[in-house]
Amino acid sequence: MSGEKLCILALLLAFAAGQSCPTYTCGTRTDFCIYYAPNTNVVEVSNCTTTGTYCPMPPSGANVTCTTKANNTYPKYPGEKCSASSQCFSNNCYKGYCKGAQAGEYCLTSSAYLRNGACNPGLYCDLAQVPAICVPLKEDFEPCTSDSQCEYGTGCYMCDTCSAGICLEYGQLDSGTEIYAGSCQNSYSKYCEDGQCFVFSNGTAICIEEVENRNYANSMCLTNTACQSTFSKEAQRFITGTCQCTWNPTGTKYCSSFPGEGYFEKFLEFFDDWDESENAEKCNIDIAYTDRCIRSHGSTKDLAKYYLYTYMYMYENYLVGAPSCVAGVMKSVLSLSSLSENKIFYEVDNFGFYLALSGIVLAL
Ligand SMILES: *[C@@H]1O[C@H](CO)[C@@H](O)[C@H](O)[C@H]1NC(C)=O
Ligand SMILES: *[C@@H]1O[C@H](CO)[C@@H](O)[C@H](O)[C@H]1NC(C)=O
Ligand SMILES: *[C@@H]1O[C@H](CO)[C@@H](O)[C@H](O)[C@H]1NC(C)=O
Ligand SMILES: *[C@@H]1O[C@H](CO)[C@@H](O)[C@H](O)[C@H]1NC(C)=O
Repeated sequence: MSGEKLCILALLLAFAAGQSCPTYTCGTRTDFCIYYAPNTNVVEVSNCTTTGTYCPMPPSGANVTCTTKANNTYPKYPGEKCSASSQCFSNNCYKGYCKGAQAGEYCLTSSAYLRNGACNPGLYCDLAQVPAICVPLKEDFEPCTSDSQCEYGTGCYMCDTCSAGICLEYGQLDSGTEIYAGSCQNSYSKYCEDGQCFVFSNGTAICIEEVENRNYANSMCLTNTACQSTFSKEAQRFITGTCQCTWNPTGTKYCSSFPGEGYFEKFLEFFDDWDESENAEKCNIDIAYTDRCIRSHGSTKDLAKYYLYTYMYMYENYLVGAPSCVAGVMKSVLSLSSLSENKIFYEVDNFGFYLALSGIVLAL
């Protein structure tokens, strides 16, 4: 699925590991929407007031300026909806969808493409052949060197020091199964049936059944040891979670969600459903799990869910105790140009984002 998303999560967690928490306040600055006042531990959050701009909010520790929403003018991949050939990388819009190279045809890579972008859905670009040609994606258990060589809904499962592995369906490994430690990142493994995993201190990693916060999710805390999971019978223990800073005005830390609760779970369910809908396979493998494919083959509701869950699973832990202005600024990111403001509010209402926001207001 989306490995790059998990890297972002890792980045957020790394940032959270810092010592004393900054305090977040509502501001009215026009130069920066997120501003770290020099020599203080105060972060000022302000709305972007220029129409068509939003505040990208990764907690990078740097000042952030308002950014213009990008227009979707990029060339399209095979399988994406099109109305003119000039919109497609391949310069071939056929019956409303971009058409690329077929199996056995050349996939000469150009810098404009991601690796497999020349090939039609169901194919990848085999660079081991000279010249490179499009070939069918590999089935379960076939040897591979990267996820994008494997069928939709499967990845290239390989040991930590290996450069090759086998294609394996996501969620295929039962709880209790030992897995390569490298495939367990931040307690998440896409190959485990419940998506959760645990690494023992001796380095052995296993899939575990879903655990949640033993106390209320998002309790206040001082140290990680305060954030214990429900009992994991595979790991034979309560697992220690993460006590992290959030975007709140008092510098309080809160226990983060475990992968089995909150929006991360919704995010994973969404992609399971997306796979099952057989829509992913209508797109080129490089974009099958992105908004580009969802925009072409999913519903408006799918797209709204995608943005909401992707965004919220990354940020929900930061919003605990946040002042409503912070939530308001954050929401501007979700109001993406492809969806009208009304749509967002409507969808949001249906999927709990609105409730999440009122929860934040109540927490004040
Ligand atoms: C934010 O901008 C101010 C003023 O330009 C600067 O003094 C400060 O060091 C910046 N903070 C960070 C974290 O970059
Ligand atoms: C995006 O498209 C709109 C309408 O076509 C245009 O007014 C606007 O300037 C464009 N924005 C960018 C950043 O290109
Ligand atoms: C590591 O520890 C776990 C739990 O105690 C045990 O099940 C596993 O066999 C150990 N692995 C190695 C390689 O010793
Ligand atoms: C930003 O705008 C929203 C909605 O327009 C408003 O509710 C919020 O209070 C504003 N925040 C600040 C910091 O002005």
